[in-house]
Amino acid sequence: MVKIPPGRNPIGTAKVANFVYCTYTKRNTMSITSQAELQGMQNASEAVALTLRQMREYAKPGMSTAELDEFGRSVLAGFGARSAPKLTYGFPGWTCISVNHEIAHGIPAAKTILREGDLVNVDVSAELEGFWADNGGSFVLGEDLHKHQQLVDASKKILQLAIANIRNGVKVAEIGGLIEAEARKRGYKVIKNLTGHGIGRGLHEEPHSIANYYDKYNKSRFRANDVVAIETFISTKATWAYDAGDGWTLIAKDGSYVAQHEHTIMVTEEAPVILTAVNGIWN
Ligand code: CO
Ligand code: CO
Repeated sequence: MVKIPPGRNPIGTAKVANFVYCTYTKRNTMSITSQAELQGMQNASEAVALTLRQMREYAKPGMSTAELDEFGRSVLAGFGARSAPKLTYGFPGWTCISVNHEIAHGIPAAKTILREGDLVNVDVSAELEGFWADNGGSFVLGEDLHKHQQLVDASKKILQLAIANIRNGVKVAEIGGLIEAEARKRGYKVIKNLTGHGIGRGLHEEPHSIANYYDKYNKSRFRANDVVAIETFISTKATWAYDAGDGWTLIAKDGSYVAQHEHTIMVTEEAPVILTAVNGIWN
């Protein structure tokens, strides 16, 4: 996930909100050009995908998010993979675990105890042998006591539709437009300052802002062999994510709930290759 920084001094600036700018610079996307690179991306992607799946299965009411994160650390270590947010940003956890009104970058903590019916988001990104992959998913823990399942299902379905429409030459903005339209159809909004991103040789590469809405200033297109992380941010009401004050966690200020689902994919001339498919977020 990329948070569009306020007041960034960009090249080819686009004003996307009152005080927020995003940049469309020269492209620096990982483009897979060899079987070895594809294999490297597949290995990294499988490591984060299986970690995410196992963490989702391991999460239980009464467990702290620190405990769940520690489990994630051990699974990643088993693959020889290194936590991307820790490596890139010095994030105080191995994975991001966001609970209920937290949208993203939730810090795993011993005092955060998971409860039945919580809306939980786990996001796992890592580096393995120089290749980086990213994936995430929201789910309802145990019984759906607070009726979050519909939001979760909408987010999953919208990610599926978005990815199914990506191929060589498609405008990044079109996919954002599709995500927002599909959200609206279901009575939801999208978060506008959190986006998907290019990935491959680093956690965040060009294109930096694969937004969840039609960003008319974004003229970039998906290209065959590009590796990108596509992620939804589907919201019950809010359209903006704010800092919670701990330097990491992003929250909705109005009590909204947000669901996120993310895959790392390789663009082709036809349907994309979903590199993190084994995370099972669509199952
Ligand atoms: Co991401
Ligand atoms: Co992610």
